[in-house]
Amino acid sequence: MKHFIDFHEDVGIDELNYLLDIASDMKAKTKAGIEHHYLNGKTLAMIFTKSSTRTRVSFEVGMYQLGGHSLFLSNNDIQIGRGETIHDTAKVLSGMVDGIMIRTFKHSDVTDLAKYGTIPVINGLTDDQHPTQMLADLLTIKEHKGTLKGLKLAYVGDGNNVANSLLQACSKAGMDIAIGSPKDYTCPDKYVKQAQEDAAVTGSKILMTDDPFEAASDADVIYTDTWTSMGQEDEKAKRVQIFRNYQVNTKLMGVAHKDAIFLHCLPAYRGYEVTEDVIDGPASVVFDEAENRLHAHKAILVNCYLNS
Ligand code: CP
Ligand code: NVA
Repeated sequence: MKHFIDFHEDVGIDELNYLLDIASDMKAKTKAGIEHHYLNGKTLAMIFTKSSTRTRVSFEVGMYQLGGHSLFLSNNDIQIGRGETIHDTAKVLSGMVDGIMIRTFKHSDVTDLAKYGTIPVINGLTDDQHPTQMLADLLTIKEHKGTLKGLKLAYVGDGNNVANSLLQACSKAGMDIAIGSPKDYTCPDKYVKQAQEDAAVTGSKILMTDDPFEAASDADVIYTDTWTSMGQEDEKAKRVQIFRNYQVNTKLMGVAHKDAIFLHCLPAYRGYEVTEDVIDGPASVVFDEAENRLHAHKAILVNCYLNS
């Protein structure tokens, strides 16, 4: 079964290039209006226990453009929300649909769906990881910079699900990655070790620091994300204080390469993790990045469905 749950475990180094090529091909076909119904008649159940704009729309539109059909299942409406187990949900959905995409809190709920079901499972974000975002991000960087290998990406801010997945993805792609986060809010060792494992093969360099300027120095890509992820709303006031020196602003962009690009998975909170002049300025490619979710997710769907 071909799942897309964990970028480190589920994406091979060569497979990454293959996925990026499929995503570019999907994009070209979409733009040219060329039909690409690779998933004719296939169905995708999309379970959401957290909010979403990009992930929901891109998977739903992606399935349609591939000739398939998707079902949006909010936990407010399905029986998971009333206590039905992941085990039973996995068994039931496996009998009716061809794949599951899930966005939820506990990462183990996603791995359990894969364990108990018999169809591909795609991780649309957990508290720990956001792997589908990564393929869109790498595609965007490749489009703007022409290559991935040897570039430096600096992530400044909260060592959250996006940062963990960036460690996994950049090290696979042969990109140098620097994480600049406060000491108590940096990525868990597990993700640093995984990145070091892949870096030993691909030649990428990993830097973990609590100095945002050291992280951003000479970077080709500056990346940030919200200081308050879904589920952490009660900590917002505290987090605004903790992260106030980790804002991406023109001063921070000033230590990156002159032609550095700015990425953000979105949604963004202007005036907090990024200033308006950066996110709405010439270095920002955040809306290309958002559009690329569509093309990247179609590549993930095709790879999972046709190789399972
Ligand atoms: N970046 C991202 O996953 O956006 P959504 O929360 O809108 O899906
Ligand atoms: N870190 C953010 C990403 C949103 C796409 C969150 O988990 O809320």
